[in-house]
Amino acid sequence: PGAQAAREPGERLPVIAHRGASAYAPENTLAAVDEAARLGIGWVENDVQRTKDGELVVIHDDSLQRTTDVEEIYPGRAPWKVKDFTAAEIARLDAGSWFGPGYAGTRVPTLQQYVNRVDLHHQKLLLEIKNPQLYPDIERQTLKLLGNEGWLDRQHLTGRLIVQSFSAASIRTVHELKPGVKTGLLGAPSVAELPGYATFTDQINPSYRAVSRGYVSAVHVFTGAHGRPLEVVTWTVDDADTARRVAGYGVDGVITNRPDVVRDALGEW
Ligand code: G3P
Ligand code: CA
Repeated sequence: PGAQAAREPGERLPVIAHRGASAYAPENTLAAVDEAARLGIGWVENDVQRTKDGELVVIHDDSLQRTTDVEEIYPGRAPWKVKDFTAAEIARLDAGSWFGPGYAGTRVPTLQQYVNRVDLHHQKLLLEIKNPQLYPDIERQTLKLLGNEGWLDRQHLTGRLIVQSFSAASIRTVHELKPGVKTGLLGAPSVAELPGYATFTDQINPSYRAVSRGYVSAVHVFTGAHGRPLEVVTWTVDDADTARRVAGYGVDGVITNRPDVVRDALGEW
């Protein structure tokens, strides 16, 4: 095992189910959360966006087209952007049939439904604020919902929740609104940029293609927003060899569509 930044002795390397266990169930649905739980996976990742009438929903693309039957149900409304549909309209859509007939009738979950399902399984959540430029004030709204659902209670704050985004501005806003929340910045900024980001983030979360032993070590030198070494959590690693390679570089977590494969590969870590 390589150098570690922030794990306790004996603590396993976190394996995070990307969009839920999305190789086995439709991404970003309650079924994908359930599948991760069934596999014994303690962390799930999701993507949060907002409907026309202001409901937070869990979906990856800014359009409903790829992962629902929206074209069939609302044929005249291309390009079927999430932000142009109400929550009630989205609730009618089938978000499972595209993945497989066994998932017909699966819905796009609201964030409230999603966090409650994660809670039910006693899992932890890596929540991505997706496309924040499309949704003014989504950071405040997301934190309010998390607070209402019990996710910001002091005993839970740093242990079970991370809020990440590709937008540094969004993550900075989350940190300023709720300094206790652990945050992650997606992407692979240059080492020169890290001191600035480390004032408001705890993790740097790059594609595995951008990860090297040198980069991980360089990130670990800096102290993150909560006074511990900046962590590196990498995505999206779906094979055993890559999982072992990035673990050997000392990453602090692995995001994967195949969490069982990665967990089994990382047994020694
Ligand atoms: O959590 C990392 C990963 O989800 C970022 O990429 O496009 O899958 O949201 P994307
Ligand atoms: Ca994501």
